[in-house]
Amino acid sequence: MLRVTLAFARPVLGTKAFGGWRASAAAMSSLLVQQPNYSWLKELGLHEDNAGVFNGTWGGRGEVVTSYCPANNEPIARVKQATLEEYEETVQKAKEAWEIWADIPAPKRGEIVRQIGDSLRKKLKVLGNLLSLEMGKISVEGIGEVQEYIDICDYAVGLSRMIGGPVLPSERPGHALIEQWNPLGLVGIITAFNFPVAVYGWNNALALICGNCCLWKGAPTTPLTSIAVTKIVTQVLEDNKLPGAICSLTCGGADIGTAMSKDERINLLSFTGSTKVGKQVSLVVQERFGRQLLELGGNNAIIVFEDADLNMVIPSVLFAAVGTAGQRCTTTRRLFLHESIHDEVVERLAKAYKQIRIGDPLDSNTLYGPLHTKQAVDMYKNAVEQAKQQGGNVVYGGKAIDRPGNYVEPTIVTGLPHNATIVHTETFAPILYVVKFKSEEEAFAWNNEVKQGLSSSIFTKDVGRMFHWLGPKGSDCGIVNINIPTSGAEIGGAFGGEKHTGGGRESGSDAWKNYMRRSTCTINYSKELPLAQGIKFE
Ligand code: UN1
Repeated sequence: MLRVTLAFARPVLGTKAFGGWRASAAAMSSLLVQQPNYSWLKELGLHEDNAGVFNGTWGGRGEVVTSYCPANNEPIARVKQATLEEYEETVQKAKEAWEIWADIPAPKRGEIVRQIGDSLRKKLKVLGNLLSLEMGKISVEGIGEVQEYIDICDYAVGLSRMIGGPVLPSERPGHALIEQWNPLGLVGIITAFNFPVAVYGWNNALALICGNCCLWKGAPTTPLTSIAVTKIVTQVLEDNKLPGAICSLTCGGADIGTAMSKDERINLLSFTGSTKVGKQVSLVVQERFGRQLLELGGNNAIIVFEDADLNMVIPSVLFAAVGTAGQRCTTTRRLFLHESIHDEVVERLAKAYKQIRIGDPLDSNTLYGPLHTKQAVDMYKNAVEQAKQQGGNVVYGGKAIDRPGNYVEPTIVTGLPHNATIVHTETFAPILYVVKFKSEEEAFAWNNEVKQGLSSSIFTKDVGRMFHWLGPKGSDCGIVNINIPTSGAEIGGAFGGEKHTGGGRESGSDAWKNYMRRSTCTINYSKELPLAQGIKFE
């Protein structure tokens, strides 16, 4: 997912320039956390100045950054990031903690994860609201994201009594052939600004029941969320007299991200972010033959056939293109409409876009909030300009909104060819490119012609077409939907995509296997020494 193109808003790049001028601005104006309206932030243990490192104790001797509210660009609170020395200390503490954690039986580890889920339940609303305040998504989506973490905790608790390998038939008499799964050790988790709770949750819950410790670096622009989550999780560890470093945190920028990529002690690096940064991270991890789990960009399409139920199509497109202000990796960016229904759908969509209630993400009446940063607004404007230059018609939106905060109009562009450069570019903003098609064959081919392969949907009632879509010549994505939108996946399935999306799978199904290593074990319980393949070596 292309979060933003500018360096400082990316998960693994630095915040120096950003932190510098904004920190001084923050020193002059009052922080939201000090204001009575935002006293609920104290329930999450947040203050004016917050330690951004946790490894059993809290620290942060590095650069101080200020977190800003995207709805008004006011400073919320300050965070003290990790130095490289603190990173080093943290890895050591996490490794020491692993010696204890790895010996705890998986179902008992599951019990700890159950308690984490319960603690999150108690903070569901307040943590969801912090997410809205700091990331900018509307409160139902913020709360929904915390719910994803709770759901994956439940899933992981169940798994903690189920994971394991088979006993396989050995070809040799008196031999047992079994698969043993063991934890990897330390899992590094680098997450992006757009899902600052759920993506950590998917990784954290599974990594824990599998017997790993976690070291988290969230996005530099959502550090308060990382700190609030870590406080909830580590309280559970401490209540159970376990080392807090089992779930460590190092808030920081490119220096910390690079250190994690290079570090042989990070046994798995799970990275969510842009394809561009993901590629850099991936090459560094591969250089040391490290394990990685990549969840990168998407350029997701919905294909609407002539027989589709348009009453389902319109709300689906609205949710997937406009929800989270177009900043999900699963956001619908391309809409392929059969020529027979093209005009009607565009007209109905434009009408629906007019009804979108734009406002403060924390206001329960709001359906659509700001973009995460000012730079994202520039990227949006730039993409709209390019779309026009490449021949597109802006039939809805197309402009930044003149109000405090990073608001832009949700936008519909028609008339571009399916392979226009801008249509093939993932811009992390609410811009929907609508393209007319004639045949199933061309629509499926257009779905697959982009570099990314995350999510995809068709709307149809034709059963043959449905199975063609799911089959070898259908969608080439990791998420292949029918009569539902591209975004809003459940935690129970494996989440991730192909090609430039990175190939990783997180969350449900058998994604737990990514967090463990498999040993094939052959045990001879006979008194003979038969060799496989019937070889006689005498
Ligand atoms: C992401 O955008 O990085 O399917 C994750 C969805 C959410 C997760 C999105 N459950 O839209």
